[in-house]
Amino acid sequence: MATIGVFDSGSGGLSVLKELRKVLPEEKYVYYSDNANCPYGDKTPEFIQDRARSITDLLLEKGAEAVVVACNTATAAAIATLRAEYDIPFIGMEPAVKPAALGTRSGVIGVLATAGTLKGSKYLNTKGLYEDDVKIEERVGRGFVELVESLELEGPHAEAVVRASLLPLLEAGADTIVLGCTHYPFLLPVMEKVAALTPGFMKGSGTVRFVDPAPAVARRLESVLREKGISLSDPEPGVELLASGPDTTLRRLFGTII
Ligand code: DGL
Repeated sequence: MATIGVFDSGSGGLSVLKELRKVLPEEKYVYYSDNANCPYGDKTPEFIQDRARSITDLLLEKGAEAVVVACNTATAAAIATLRAEYDIPFIGMEPAVKPAALGTRSGVIGVLATAGTLKGSKYLNTKGLYEDDVKIEERVGRGFVELVESLELEGPHAEAVVRASLLPLLEAGADTIVLGCTHYPFLLPVMEKVAALTPGFMKGSGTVRFVDPAPAVARRLESVLREKGISLSDPEPGVELLASGPDTTLRRLFGTII
């Protein structure tokens, strides 16, 4: 067992932690929610890099031997800096454009993410590889992170917020939607409801598929631990939850992923 640090701007990274624990159930995880500074989506890269350094220092103090940056926005802004400045491995979020592009039947994929992620070079490079083959429509999931952090995971207001960003993607013909922010999987039931209630989306038939990169991130962590020979150093599997602000949402949402 190893000690794995995991961090996000808030509780969204719990959707990643859930997948990590499916693949690697015996590890010790230390999860840090930077909810006092959430959302990261519109913050500068420099701000996010500073936060990422402070959080990494804290996770190292807690014994982390590898860190999962369970935040697409922080991956885009800070993972290169972290890799340059620290000796441990960092595993980041991958924009799941490839599986979406390979799986679409309509030839249109939608990407929901934060403004920071959509501007990041990692996303832009990945998009560049596929945009000749499929049409890629993007939207910022405006207000999605706030819904999750305030535990508003259903109801008319949550549906209206989700509809405002999702509907344009469906109307553009997207049958596959990339969840490009780790908070968004917590809104999957609302997204599915909005999609199902959208008259004539996909020109009358079929279903929409939502693609979450978290299972691939978990497999990547497993292979990195193997490559680096990191194993069996921590006697106690489990999860420690830490937050820079009040931890009510973190603890409640953690209750839904175990
Ligand atoms: N969970 C984040 C991400 O994956 C957070 C976004 C935010 O704080 O704006 O991008």
